[in-house]
Amino acid sequence: MKRTHNCGELRKGDVKKTVTLCGWVDRRRDLGGVIFVDLRDKYGKTQIVFNPEWNAEVHKLADTLRNEFVIQVTGEVQNRPSGMENEKISTGDIDVKINELVILNKAETPPLEINNAKEESKENDDLRLRYRYLDLRRPWIQKNLMLKSRFLGEAHAFFRKNGFEEIETPVLCKSTPEGARDYIVPSRVNPGKFYALPQSPQQYKQLLMIAGMDRYYQIAKCFRDEDLRADRQPEFTQIDLEMSFVNQDDVMELLDGFVKEVLAHIWEFEIGEIPRIKYADAMLTYGSDKPDLRFDLPIFDVSDIAANVDFAVFKNAVANHGVVRGLAAKGCVDFTRKQIDDLTEFVGRYGSKGLVWMRVKDNHEVETQVAKFFTKEQLEALRNAIQGKTGDMLFFIAGSEKIAATAMGHLRLEIARIKGLMDPKLRKFAWITEFPMFEYSETEKRYMSMHHPFTSPLPEHLDMMLGGNLKDCNAQAYDLVLNGVEIGGGSVRIHNPEVQEKVFRLLGLSEEQVKQKFGFFVDAFKFGAPPHGGLALGLDRVVATLEGQDSIRDFIAFPKNTSASSPMDQSPSEVDPIQLLETHISSILPP
Ligand code: AMO
Ligand code: AMP
Repeated sequence: MKRTHNCGELRKGDVKKTVTLCGWVDRRRDLGGVIFVDLRDKYGKTQIVFNPEWNAEVHKLADTLRNEFVIQVTGEVQNRPSGMENEKISTGDIDVKINELVILNKAETPPLEINNAKEESKENDDLRLRYRYLDLRRPWIQKNLMLKSRFLGEAHAFFRKNGFEEIETPVLCKSTPEGARDYIVPSRVNPGKFYALPQSPQQYKQLLMIAGMDRYYQIAKCFRDEDLRADRQPEFTQIDLEMSFVNQDDVMELLDGFVKEVLAHIWEFEIGEIPRIKYADAMLTYGSDKPDLRFDLPIFDVSDIAANVDFAVFKNAVANHGVVRGLAAKGCVDFTRKQIDDLTEFVGRYGSKGLVWMRVKDNHEVETQVAKFFTKEQLEALRNAIQGKTGDMLFFIAGSEKIAATAMGHLRLEIARIKGLMDPKLRKFAWITEFPMFEYSETEKRYMSMHHPFTSPLPEHLDMMLGGNLKDCNAQAYDLVLNGVEIGGGSVRIHNPEVQEKVFRLLGLSEEQVKQKFGFFVDAFKFGAPPHGGLALGLDRVVATLEGQDSIRDFIAFPKNTSASSPMDQSPSEVDPIQLLETHISSILPP
């Protein structure tokens, strides 16, 4: 047997036992000839002691130990001398008096300080990713991966208990348009043809419903060639599911159960009813379709009042079919000019041409640079409309509905950040419902699906959509949001082939294009498709957000960097010219 215990296991009750431990040298200290080593494995750390008086030969060998050597030791567990206990580690009451040492492997000086706490780990990301296997030795990253593993275990149990079948779908498949670019794979035996890696198993899971599988789930790898951010990776994992004979309430209720039974259980939080907020209301009140509900700071529309003032910025915005939105920043009356200028610059990044501010002084007296354009009553009406109180700073943005809403939404988050309102211990979930079916793309100059082209319109909006009104048509689509992060999304699907055809047509796809891109899919619906719907959770985002982290990278064992490459194995890389020849590929490189 290589070991009797792991490095996180020994307690006072084990004193006097002879034990064998294996692990890595985390830290070595030499105190007046006595050598202390923190021995580390996945389970914890145990202090082991080498004293020349106990065994001179073993002590001499111990003197050659360096950080990250892999060793096996045998010795007797003893109480630490009183006052020397270490409360920070689970084995802190004892140490082990070593009389046998085997060096299983030596290690070069590691390029990362493995035993540093997270806050002390200052290496740049590429160095960490280059030596990711060393980075992964850090206890705080191991903890993330273990947590994700536990979560997956409980997720599997939940879906099985609820009658879902786990079914794998292909990774080499036909392109599934979800809004990002595909990763493509050439085919050796089909010259000039390509597979796409799935952006999600969307079409396959719908085909499984047509096949009569009733309830499907899968922990699915998804691939999207999009610009990377902290919460986006080119390959990531979804907890993907689909159900037959359901409406959107059924899907959301299942997920409500998942949040209560799985997430609240693992992360130990209380959860009441998850609020359901219509997309339009979320955009108005929070300026976002993924509102952070850990703090209040609501946004209000003041277009009615703004339409009648002398201030051209406000009046013209409303006259040009735009809006004016405002929010009262609680307790921010003392923001400096510099802070206001910074905030003006900040909202500019989201398209706002400026930022009107008003300080609410004693007795609700409003003080502002643009006072001359307003009557006292108008200032009072504006303050009232956005519930401003003495001590608040009022902010207003005028512009198109989209710009005013999003710039205000970001301002709301920025003020919360400045005032420290984003409590990492709070878990505020919300469902966002009734998303628009379509979204106008300025770059493409046409309407695109907001979720994906298989999403069903609200039953009461079907006729409107068939009549060609895309702007006002809402979908049976829903997102699950946690602390301002979209952790999942789904929809009820179209199951009527004629409606599906029509949606493709409304999206500007010709009959020929539909046949070529989705022929098999459209055909399948002609043979009896049940009503169905589903959702996918972003596994990495769920875990990272519940852990209060913005970046999903520390929750993925081998992530890519922001240029979608891996500094460790140097992928993507050039391939042997023979491979290119065999797959009928020649590269046209940018000049
Ligand atoms: P959607 O595209 O909304 O829906 O994706 C579902 C969830 O996956 C997560 N996610 C990501 N996580 C990390 N990196 C990425 N690049 C990334 N992109 C998405 C998000 C998101 O909410 N087929 C549909 C689901 C359905 O309709 O059933 C789909 O993929 O948390
Ligand atoms: P200007 O008329 O450009 O000198 O702007 C007068 C004030 O209105 C300044 O404080 C600007 O920041 C502000 N302002 C300008 N455009 C907007 C806008 N679209 N929304 C809110 N405030 C604005």
